[in-house]
Amino acid sequence: TPKIVRHIAELREEIAVFRRLNPENAQVGLVPTMGYLHEGHASLIRRSSQENGLTVLSIFVNPLQFGPTEDYDRYPRDEARDVAVAKAAGASIVFMPSVEEMYPEPNRTTVSVSGLTDRLCGASRPGHFDGVATVVSKLFHIVLPDHAYFGMKDAQQVAVVARMTRDLNLPIDIVPCPTVRESDGLAKSSRNVYLNPDERKQALVLSQSLAQVPGWLEDGMTEAELVVRIRGKIRSQPLANIEYVEVLTYPDLAPPVPDRPLSESKEPLLVALAVRFGKTRLIDNMLMFPA
Ligand code: PAJ
Repeated sequence: TPKIVRHIAELREEIAVFRRLNPENAQVGLVPTMGYLHEGHASLIRRSSQENGLTVLSIFVNPLQFGPTEDYDRYPRDEARDVAVAKAAGASIVFMPSVEEMYPEPNRTTVSVSGLTDRLCGASRPGHFDGVATVVSKLFHIVLPDHAYFGMKDAQQVAVVARMTRDLNLPIDIVPCPTVRESDGLAKSSRNVYLNPDERKQALVLSQSLAQVPGWLEDGMTEAELVVRIRGKIRSQPLANIEYVEVLTYPDLAPPVPDRPLSESKEPLLVALAVRFGKTRLIDNMLMFPA
């Protein structure tokens, strides 16, 4: 059973003891989450426990990264179930701090990664990535991990965290992990529990649109043509409200050269979608290497 730790000082002590007692295999892995764990989170924990002697799973619903009208208060929580998932996946320590423990006084320091946060979720959620970069930076400084594990489900988050780590010379290896999906293709998300049965059925349009992208690229489509195609397909589902459909280079998140077939792109391309069903916002993406 993983050790439950709620205080920063105790966590630091546990990690220091581990490093002292295991000088040979003293690698520490960190898996930051907001809890309500599913198979996507579990895959990160399993990967970390394969690659490190100690895996710290953090569970903290970070108020800084939620906008004033977002779901901070109703974000789903289930500590007992989370600990069971953490245990099955091999976590050594579950770090579950209170808001007071993480933010004993209002933060006057914000970590902000410019450029990478202007588009996609950064555009529709102002301040969101400052909140993410700030809390991830705090967790990195608290845990001092050798490796930190992030899901490509949130590809922009991976790009932001990787760039922050490089810009600040943090000696931490950022490990991107593949998106885990339901058997029908829907990307696993803690927010999927909000979907009613009709919305759940129509939500399949995200992964199904992405699945068609490679074929559309073979047809020589440009960015503009691809976006029109995907939008049309998503709009065929009456409950779907598109927030964005974007194609960007990865990991720089810059627009591709206009009016050129995407299949000729020298850089990897990220096709990213955000679609609302009722009050539930879903995201999905696909990373491609055309050249
Ligand atoms: P959360 O949404 O709980 O996600 C925690 C980690 O699990 C993230 O790295 C996310 O990309 C990954 N993840 C979520 N769904 C996944 C899936 N279907 N397949 C693979 N990985 C998946 O992302 C956050 O929390 C927060 O922003 C956080 C980084 C913890 C900072 O507060």
